[in-house]
Amino acid sequence: MTLVVDHPLARARLTTVRDARTDRPTFRDAVRDLTTMLVYEALRDAPVTETPVTTPVADTVGAELTAPPVLVPVLRAGLGMATAAHAQVPGALMGFVGVARDEETLQPTPYMESLPGDLAGRPVFVLDPMLATGGSMAHTIDLLVARGADDVTAVCVVAAPEGIARLGEQHPDVRIVTATIDERLNESGYIVPGLGDAGDRQFGAM
Ligand code: PRP
Ligand code: URA
Repeated sequence: MTLVVDHPLARARLTTVRDARTDRPTFRDAVRDLTTMLVYEALRDAPVTETPVTTPVADTVGAELTAPPVLVPVLRAGLGMATAAHAQVPGALMGFVGVARDEETLQPTPYMESLPGDLAGRPVFVLDPMLATGGSMAHTIDLLVARGADDVTAVCVVAAPEGIARLGEQHPDVRIVTATIDERLNESGYIVPGLGDAGDRQFGAM
């Protein structure tokens, strides 16, 4: 299932990140704002547990997330989503996966993982702004499934049809929440129209 968050504010921030003239700090701010909106919508139907609360006036009943998602930013580009997602779910546990796409072969090259050992029965939100071929996301989800995860949401800013199709084949139960589904990949594996290289635009070219 793919949810496109088509809110006017999301479309405005998406325009900012798409614009090749946007400077790095403004780009990071827009990624942060988009993450806030994407996580908000991703949690729309999350179960809550009622909890008593006392206002200055009276006792009443409040609510808290029954199961806060484990947040997993995919380094590097997903790091720009981590703080905003954590602000939405302050009690969340955070794991990390490092994977860099080989720009010749377009294959994911894993270089680190730091994840809870047991993810069975726990919702997991993978944070990566770009879902292109889907190789990096599929690798990350493989790591999660190996730890028992069975409730995974991929939170992306831009998704390509090719990446969505790949996840549908390899991980049909994964939910995708994105601000847009773009047209296609180009011959270099970049999303069109996309936004360019999300890691470089946030943190600089290596
Ligand atoms: C980007 C992006 C994804 C991946 C998407 O990261 O953040 O992780 O590419 O491409 P895919 O769907 O074809 O795998 P990149 O590998 O450029 O690394 P970076 O985050 O360190 O810049
Ligand atoms: N990774 C990016 O950062 N951008 C793309 O368009 C594709 C992969």
